[in-house]
This record gives sequence, C-alpha cells and structure tokens, in this order.
Amino acid sequence: MDISEAIAGRRAVRDYTSEPVDEATLRALIADAVQAPSAINEQPWIFTVVRDQALLDRVSVKAKALMLAATPAAALPGHAHAHAMLDDPHFQIFYHAPVLVLISATAPGPFVTEDCTLAAENLMLAAYGKGLGSCWIGLAQGYLDTPDGKAAFGLPAGCQPVAPIILGHPKSVAPPVARKAPEIHWVG
Ligand SMILES: Cc1cc2nc3c(=O)[nH]c(=O)nc-3n(C[C@H](O)[C@H](O)[C@H](O)COP(=O)(O)O)c2cc1C
Repeated sequence: MDISEAIAGRRAVRDYTSEPVDEATLRALIADAVQAPSAINEQPWIFTVVRDQALLDRVSVKAKALMLAATPAAALPGHAHAHAMLDDPHFQIFYHAPVLVLISATAPGPFVTEDCTLAAENLMLAAYGKGLGSCWIGLAQGYLDTPDGKAAFGLPAGCQPVAPIILGHPKSVAPPVARKAPEIHWVG
C-alpha cells in the first residue's frame, strides 16, 4: 500500500468484531512501531498488550469515574455529551476492542512523549495496512497514569503511560473525517 494512501485511509475505529488479533500480527505491528524515530535514538518505549476483556472493563469503569470526579462537566471536550457518555454504565471506553496496546515511556524524559507518540502513529498506520482498525483512547490516560492504573497493567512505577491504542477487526468501514485546510506560513 502506498504510504499516502495509508495515511489518508486510516480512521479512528470504534466498532469491532470479537475476532482476536493473533500474536504474530501484534508482534509485527510492534516491530513497525519501533521503527519510529526517537530523540538520540533512546527508544524509550515499553509495550503492554492487554487482551483480558474483564480487565479492560474494570479499567474503563475506573477511568470514567476518575474523569468524572476530576473534571468539571464544562471542561470536558464535547461538554454535556462527553459527560453523559462517561456517566453511562454501558459505555466502555475501549469499545470492546479485542486488544489494547499501551505504549509507555520507560522513564520520564524531555522527549519521551514525542517518541512514544511517533511509535503509536506507526502502529496505527501499520494496523491499517493489515486491514485492522485502531483508535487512541485518551480517556484512559488519566487513570493509567495513577499508581492504581499502572498496577492494573503491571507497569513499573517509574513508567509513564503515553498512548493507549485499541486494535481489532473493524465491524464496519469508518466514515471519512474532514480535515481543516492547513494554515501554512511560508517564510522566505
Ligand atoms: C491524543 C488522542 C486522544 C484520543 N482519545 C480518544 C478517546 O478517548 N476516545 C475516542 O473515541 N477517540 C479518541 N481519539 C480519536 C480521535 O477522536 C480521532 O483521531 C479524531 O476524531 C480524528 O478522526 P480520525 O482518526 O478518524 O482521522 C483520540 C485521538 C488522539 C490523537
């Protein structure tokens, strides 16, 4: 697949079949993720692969509760709609995807967020190239960055969770999402 085709075709997928993603595929996606550039080639990432649906359910409940408790309704993106969604016991923030890959920084550092984010984009594009869907789940981040959240996924205390990415076989084709025209300043 042409790289521009992959970049334009990847979508945030929020509707998955229950078909698992096999281990060889997950390993191949992570191999693509680690081809990302990183500051002074530190490669400061660790990948946590979570397929335990009961665990994802528990983490979803805790992440929603933390967000609702910590964030005034007006500060949530999408405000009233987002608040109602988080309050809905049927809403699972991972959309019941068969697997979550959490990319964390092994230790804090000035560029580790950028490094892990670049690995995440590689992972999502590579997933698309293999016919899989993906979506970054920012709603999980607040909870995953607590001692309780790190313990839930067996992360060492010094790790910094950066990119929770769900993966799976899309149930339907996600519709195109418009982009704003880029603001470009030409200097010289
Ligand atoms: C940092 C970040 C956090 C995100 N968090 C969520 C999330 O918690 N739940 C969700 O459904 N989508 C989440 N998304 C997906 C975005 O909503 C999606 O990428 C955006 O609407 C553009 O759509 P596209 O990815 O299909 O182009 C997140 C994306 C990013 C980059």
